[in-house]
This record gives sequence, structure tokens and C-alpha cells, in this order.
Amino acid sequence: MTAVPMLEAWDETEGTRRARALFAETFDGAPDGVWSAPGRVNLIGEHTDYNGGLCLPIALEHRTFVALRRRPDDRVHLVSEREGSSWQTALADVAPGAVSGWGAYPAGVAWALDQLGHPTGGFDAAVVSCVPYGAGLSSSAALECAFAMAFTAAPGWAGPDPGTDAGRAALAAACVRAENEIAGANTGGMDQAASLRSRAGRALLLDTRDGHVEHIPFDLTEAGLELLVIDTRAEHALVDGQYAQRRATCEAAAAALEVPTLREITPSGLDAALAQLDGDEPRRRVRHVVTEIARVEQFVDLLRAGRLREVGPLMDASHTSLAGDYEVSAAELDVAVRAARQAGALGARMTGGGFGGSAIALVPAGASPAVAEAVTGAFAAEGFTAPVFLVATAGPPAH
Ligand code: GLA
Repeated sequence: MTAVPMLEAWDETEGTRRARALFAETFDGAPDGVWSAPGRVNLIGEHTDYNGGLCLPIALEHRTFVALRRRPDDRVHLVSEREGSSWQTALADVAPGAVSGWGAYPAGVAWALDQLGHPTGGFDAAVVSCVPYGAGLSSSAALECAFAMAFTAAPGWAGPDPGTDAGRAALAAACVRAENEIAGANTGGMDQAASLRSRAGRALLLDTRDGHVEHIPFDLTEAGLELLVIDTRAEHALVDGQYAQRRATCEAAAAALEVPTLREITPSGLDAALAQLDGDEPRRRVRHVVTEIARVEQFVDLLRAGRLREVGPLMDASHTSLAGDYEVSAAELDVAVRAARQAGALGARMTGGGFGGSAIALVPAGASPAVAEAVTGAFAAEGFTAPVFLVATAGPPAH
């Protein structure tokens, strides 16, 4: 039996070295600096962020590194280790609906900061990353947030101050605008908050009703646990219609219930709210959102009480609700979650937007290789592409 490999994160030195090397090879000379930002996994609170709800992500140790140098003109020239071709534009041409491709994320952040009164000039930049791509681990937020840091810190450029949480919240909002208005994905904001506002060793309790955050101790080692991330390799795309449809259904339900967002529906008011809605589908979507927000509160209560080992059933219930009521799971995610539990996980669930992407499993310390082995076996039996694994700890935010 060969051990299943775990995808290791690059350390700061390695990421910086790679970014500088790609920069030098492409543009000649040295960048003004290197900035980086992490991907994330969400512990619980899925599809709640665009409903004014609560979510609880951690930043991964896996990060995207950007080596950037200002240009005297307004050209943007980007290269990435992952993309076959370079991406170029003039900043003046960046506007909603006007640019596409991976460069729309960084160029969109420059556009959003300009809208806030913080113009950048043109730039050359080289991007390298060890955040798995298209895996539901927020590689796009990591890309946006690494550039957001560069745009505020490159010599002569300024913006919201990343030395304060308020500044980071403003940067996260600019990254969300870039993603919603320039890249065209109508996502909710959890990912950018996780990448910019998290702390090492803490889970980020984000209240999307008012943007308030709390840093909740999340020490897996102390609890004798590990968090195994399973990238199912099943394709997931947020720009496709399903995510937007879920969001539209929730917004229509909130309008029908005459509340600003579904956050205003409490668990005790749920039955009455459901009775006011027409149709089974909106009812199931609303039930997911309201029960999921309550699960975040229960999860946080357990963390605060030092009872991390007891959160498993909440993770399981979250998955059941996402698969059944919200219908955003996928066969690969269901198999991953089931196999992980059978192999001894205390709890497991899909994480992120769904329709593919990744699952997380909370496992006893040292059990990750055996659980990964079991999930790999279950995937082979189903004829699925082999999954990829990493072990997550709560890492530091963008810097
Ligand atoms: C994606 C989006 C987030 C959030 C999750 C679901 O990751 O980018 O804003 O809505 O899906 O919780």
C-alpha cells in the first residue's frame, strides 16, 4: 500500500523565491516587492454569506504569491505559472463587462480601488500559487487579495490600511466588487474576508449582516485532531448559473417574507416563515439557510467551551442540509464524506460553494493518511478521478 501524498504548502521563502524567479524570467530585473494571500476552507456556515448570515472559515497555509513592479504607463502585464499565456490590458479599458479571463480578478481589484479614490498605475506582475485551482478553496480570492496588498503597499501607491481590520475590511470589499462586477461571479464575500481578516490559530466568525468579525480559538493539535481537506477534482464553476440561482431564490424568499435578508428569520420563526412561502423548493432553500446559521452558532459555542471534539455531528448535519435541502452537493462530495466517516472521521461535510470542489473531514490526530487512503479507494471503486488531499491548519492572513 503506497501512502497517499498530501499537498504541502510552500513556506514564505519558497513562495517568494518562485514568484521572483518567474518575474525575472518574464520581465527582467526585480519586482518592487512580493505579497501573498491564502486560500480558505469554511468550517461551517455555507451559502449563508449572501443571506446576511454567519460563517466560520479558516485561512489555509496554502498561499498565492505575487511579485509586482509598477510601470510608468497604464499597461497591465500579468503572467502566471499556471496559465499558458500572459494577460494584458490597459487600466483604462477595465470596466464591468469589458475584460475576461484570469487577469480580470487582479485588474478588477485595481479598478475597484480606483473607484474608492485609490488609483494605481500600470504594473507587471508574476503569480505563483500552491492553492489548488478550481478546488473550491478560494484560489480566486487568494489572487485578488494578494494583489490588493500589493496595490496598497507598492512604493508610492496607497489605499485602505492593511495594518487595521477596518482597512482590511475595505480591501475585502474592493476584492468582492472586483469578483462581482468585473470577473462576473456574484459571490458573497466570505472568501475575501477569510483571506484578509483571519488570524493564525483562529477561526474567523464573520457576521455578514454588519461585517463584524471575531477570532475564535481553533487549536486542532490541542484537541488531538486534524482537518483533512479532500479535493474531489470534480469540476466546480461559480460563474455558472446554479450559484446565482440559489442566491436569487433566497433573495426572492426574503422579499416575500418582507425581511432585508433571511438572517432575520430565527429558528423559532422558521415554521411560520415556511408556511408563508409558495412552493417546496424555496421552502427547502430557506430551511437550509436558517438551520445552517444556527449550526454556526452551536459550533462556535462548542469551540468557546473547548469542546472541538464534539463538532462532528454539526458538520454532518450541515452536509445533509446542503445535499438535501440546498442541492449543491455532488456525487463525488457525497462519496468523500461517507468514506471519511466510515474510516473514522468525527464529522465531514462539503466546503465552499459545492457542485464539486472540496470536502473537509475532522479526524483524530495521525489518522489523515488512513482516511485519505479509504477515500481514494472509494473513489476508485466509483470510477472517479483520484482525489487530492491536504491537511489544514488555521494559517495567517494576506501580507
Ligand atoms: C463560494 C462563494 C462564497 C460563499 C460560498 C458558499 O465559496 O465564493 O461567497 O457563498 O461559496 O458558502
